[in-house]
Amino acid sequence: MGGFPAQRPRRLRGSAAMRSLVAEHHLAPQRLVLPMFVKEGLASPSPITSMPGVVQHSRASLVDAVGEAVEAGVGGVMLFGVPSERDARGSAGTDPDGILNEALADVAAAVGESCVVMADTCLDEFTDHGHCGVLDAEGRVDNDATLVRYVDLALAQASAGASLLGLSGMMDGQVGAVRAALDAAGRTDVALLAYSAKYATAFYGPFREAVDSALKGDRRTYQMEPGNRSEALREVALDIDEGADAVMVKPALPYLDVLVDVVAAAGSRGVPTWAYQVSGEYAMVEAAAANGWIDRERAVLETLLAITRAGASTVLSYWAVEAATWLRRG
Ligand code: PBG
Repeated sequence: MGGFPAQRPRRLRGSAAMRSLVAEHHLAPQRLVLPMFVKEGLASPSPITSMPGVVQHSRASLVDAVGEAVEAGVGGVMLFGVPSERDARGSAGTDPDGILNEALADVAAAVGESCVVMADTCLDEFTDHGHCGVLDAEGRVDNDATLVRYVDLALAQASAGASLLGLSGMMDGQVGAVRAALDAAGRTDVALLAYSAKYATAFYGPFREAVDSALKGDRRTYQMEPGNRSEALREVALDIDEGADAVMVKPALPYLDVLVDVVAAAGSRGVPTWAYQVSGEYAMVEAAAANGWIDRERAVLETLLAITRAGASTVLSYWAVEAATWLRRG
């Protein structure tokens, strides 16, 4: 009988029930977060061409869509605001009557504690130059002057009803500055998600349409260089020292090596690692599926599983609601 294998891994693949029983990783709706866009002055949702199926919401349609996300079992929503007026300081972001703050209040009132309401704490949607910070006299992004604005953004978003703030601007010291200000204001309850390893990537392309971005040029002086891997661990260590409750890697699928490293480093300090499946990752699969070149549902779930397998505790995805619905259907 020599030559026949004693070890047969295929035995555990013989039926769907067996495969599911021994699967090392499963997706769960409650670990998915839906990023959403709300635009000032809209009467009805407006499609985003480069992200088929994703829209800029009106205030009313946003609340309805959040309700559907909660119904589907999604764990949280991350809101981005698109104001009608922009200026150099991003004033609309800190205005209590600004679109994002009003939307946060609407959503927080509607969902209660049935899902976590999150806000993007960044200036790029609100500035007329499109950068994530304020500029100095030479037109460079001024790190420390930006921190002052982030503090005001954070306080406004916390007052409006956000339970978790996503610090996505990649300014040095942003987590510490915002944590100290929230604590001084008695808002020790508001959690901070640090976009610690956020890369200057081509994969944010469609997002720029989603927020009607005014940016000319790029964000390479503050977002990370795509060739860097170890530097992510430096960013993560700083953010955890400054008080981050969770750290994030972004984009997700093209940066799974970084994600694995960050999961290990943050995990050793008891801090969870999230991942953001960004607009370009979404657009690629949608474009291939629209051409009939890929099985859309399988491809979407496989990308989410890959990110989960790499160790992300929580994933931001534009497919969150649809994926949650598929998962519950089984
Ligand atoms: C910055 C921000 C961006 C994204 C999320 N937060 C844009 C950028 O950094 O250029 C991109 C998300 C995506 O592409 O889906 N506020």
